[in-house]
Amino acid sequence: MAARRIAFINEKGGTCKTTLAVNVAAFFADKKRKRVLLVDLDTQGHAAKSLGVDPRSISKNVFHLLTDPNVSLEAVTLPTATPNLALVPSWKDMAEFPSLAGADPQRARRLATRLEPALERYDFIIFDAPPSLGLTTTNILVAAEEVVVPVATTYLALDGCAEMVDTVADVKATYQHERLRITQVVPTLYRKTQLADEVLAKLKEYFPKRTAEPFALSVTVDEAQSHGKTIWEYAPWSRGATMLQSIAEAVDRAGK
Ligand SMILES: Nc1ncnc2c1ncn2[C@@H]1O[C@H](COP(=O)(O)OP(=O)(O)OP(=O)(O)O)[C@@H](O)[C@H]1O
Ligand SMILES: [Mg+2]
Repeated sequence: MAARRIAFINEKGGTCKTTLAVNVAAFFADKKRKRVLLVDLDTQGHAAKSLGVDPRSISKNVFHLLTDPNVSLEAVTLPTATPNLALVPSWKDMAEFPSLAGADPQRARRLATRLEPALERYDFIIFDAPPSLGLTTTNILVAAEEVVVPVATTYLALDGCAEMVDTVADVKATYQHERLRITQVVPTLYRKTQLADEVLAKLKEYFPKRTAEPFALSVTVDEAQSHGKTIWEYAPWSRGATMLQSIAEAVDRAGK
């Protein structure tokens, strides 16, 4: 069976895209024994950093895969400390991708095309998206089939979520990508306040069967990332790990 392709996307910054992409990928790889490829497309290189890899020290990354036909998928794929989890890192070069690829009529399909060899080699391909819309995000949506939208439970967060619904519908129509769908909306950075509960209630109203359990604020999750470790390496028995496991399981079920 071809790999399931799951994108963590929200054009808003700081909504836990990277935290969820990295830890869900690590959960599938380490706990479910699946072959997982995590593909970062953000210029910040946070997926690599979250896995203890310094993206500056790597000569070839996803940018080279997307812009140089002589660079193979293997040449940009790194092993990680988590068993079964491989990483395609990203770095500042990716900022040049939209202008470099702009004139190519197939520009939106480059990522999907370059990942074709991965479809049989992996069970899951997980994408960590940048906090913006544009050619990079379009490439992710063309390459993915399942979209997970992490939404901060704060004022204005719902706007970004509505934008994502429109963007997914646009890509689906423009690229005849029938299988593309939002499978889960994950309320993140949750604290029990009246405002957060109002945002949560709205999400459940808009996405009745697709809203995951809230991902509450947890210092341990933040610490794990700052140490370059997944939650399962850093604090496997923490509340953060329990929350991330239940989100990973919801993402798994929702896309089946
Ligand atoms: N449950 C949590 N509790 C506390 N802090 C968290 C939690 N989840 C993530 N964070 C922290 O919030 C910050 C933003 O998270 P993250 O990098 O995952 O967001 P992002 O959506 O990928 O951001 P960007 O849009 O910049 O790519 C990070 O410092 C991360 O460690
Ligand atoms: Mg990020």
